[in-house]
Amino acid sequence: SNLGFDYSNTLNFINLHEISYLEKYAQMSLDCLLNKTGQGKDFLGWVDLPRNYDKNELTHIKKAADKINSDSDAFVVIGIGGSYLGARAAIEMLSHSFYNILPKNKRTTPEIYFAGNSISSTYLKELLELLEGKDVSINVVSKSGTTTEPAIAFRVFREFLEKKYGKDGARSRIYVTTDKRKGALKKLADEEGYESFIIPDDVGGRYSVLTPVGLLPIAVAGINIDEIMKGSYDASLLYKKNRMDENISMKYAVIRNILYRKGKTIEILVNYEPRLHYFSEWWKQLYGESEGKDHKGIFPASVDFTTDLHSMGQFIQDGSRNIFETVIKIEKSIEDITIYKDKTNLDGLNFLEGKTMDFINKRALQGTILAHNDGGVPNLIISIPEISAYYFGYLVYFFEMACGISGYLNGVNPFDQPGVEAYKKNMFALLGKAGYEEEKQILEKRLQK
Ligand code: PA5
Repeated sequence: SNLGFDYSNTLNFINLHEISYLEKYAQMSLDCLLNKTGQGKDFLGWVDLPRNYDKNELTHIKKAADKINSDSDAFVVIGIGGSYLGARAAIEMLSHSFYNILPKNKRTTPEIYFAGNSISSTYLKELLELLEGKDVSINVVSKSGTTTEPAIAFRVFREFLEKKYGKDGARSRIYVTTDKRKGALKKLADEEGYESFIIPDDVGGRYSVLTPVGLLPIAVAGINIDEIMKGSYDASLLYKKNRMDENISMKYAVIRNILYRKGKTIEILVNYEPRLHYFSEWWKQLYGESEGKDHKGIFPASVDFTTDLHSMGQFIQDGSRNIFETVIKIEKSIEDITIYKDKTNLDGLNFLEGKTMDFINKRALQGTILAHNDGGVPNLIISIPEISAYYFGYLVYFFEMACGISGYLNGVNPFDQPGVEAYKKNMFALLGKAGYEEEKQILEKRLQK
């Protein structure tokens, strides 16, 4: 039970000694994470979560998931950023590709939808339309309890549920995940008596998938959250090791930093399984928000292959040479299909007779890595034996640890997100929120130009 890490396709861009030169600094970074001595040290609760997560809260989550299961056809998760992407990444990665539209005899858990992750009225209206006639429960997730997007969606859904079930009926279908003390959502939950789950103070949004933020929706989808925690626990034992030859999360952090310093300023996370799409979205937030600050950082991007080989493939092979790729390889696909022999062979595919689609997919992966490498794109491969709850937890911890090390190596605080505030300030000012009067005038003038 371990992740594979193959960096041989970067060695035409970097020297082995460059890796060892950085080991010391990576060790210092790891030490800052483990001993909580670096920048952002108040937000390092995620480091120990696999070991000391709140066991009562986990039982609480399972009980709530059972109830939701018993009285709901659909479950709506309202949240944005770190209060959204982890749950979606897990549910998409670990559930049937057509989960929501599976017939009742093939799925025992509720349909799951996400809301409050945009300000699109069309999306929300159409979701409400879809939910007509279904029994619905909702989970509103917001650590600050004041984020506009989920707050708007929650207001709309509260009205929807109260109209449908009455105030008391609605109350038993609303689950709140937020801070234990502060924020508008906490106040609302206390006043209305909504069932609440706590986000630990020292775990920031994008590091919160292994708290109730991610675990309640994931449990509702019928996924084994104990296995997720076990995977993260096993990973936490490995990735606290101080020597780079024993700790691939440290090595990954070091190699991407070397590549960055050589002008490879874009990292593309690559998958060959569509169900990993949202895992990449989670990863992009983790790395983008953690590292992109003080006018530096690797820009995290993602592609789904082979789909995007027919769109972004051209650019990666042949465009600006500031890219490297990190490929997530799944050793064994969940399902497989064998290509049969066709007498007429009109499609010319008989050379694939007897081969499985997973084998073909792997050949595409290998061929693409070599081609991109020849084109000047270093490639890293991170492999897991199979897609499972255990390996989801494992991967999450691997990437979180590497992200912390990488941020410290690059001299930033990986645990704040000051840049997220700028758009909010402008939006509030333009909407006429109290306290933003002066700002509003300035912005309105700029818009009139
Ligand atoms: O990672 C982060 O801190 C952010 O992306 C937050 O998760 C996001 O802004 C949502 O915040 P909140 O949970 O306070 O609503």
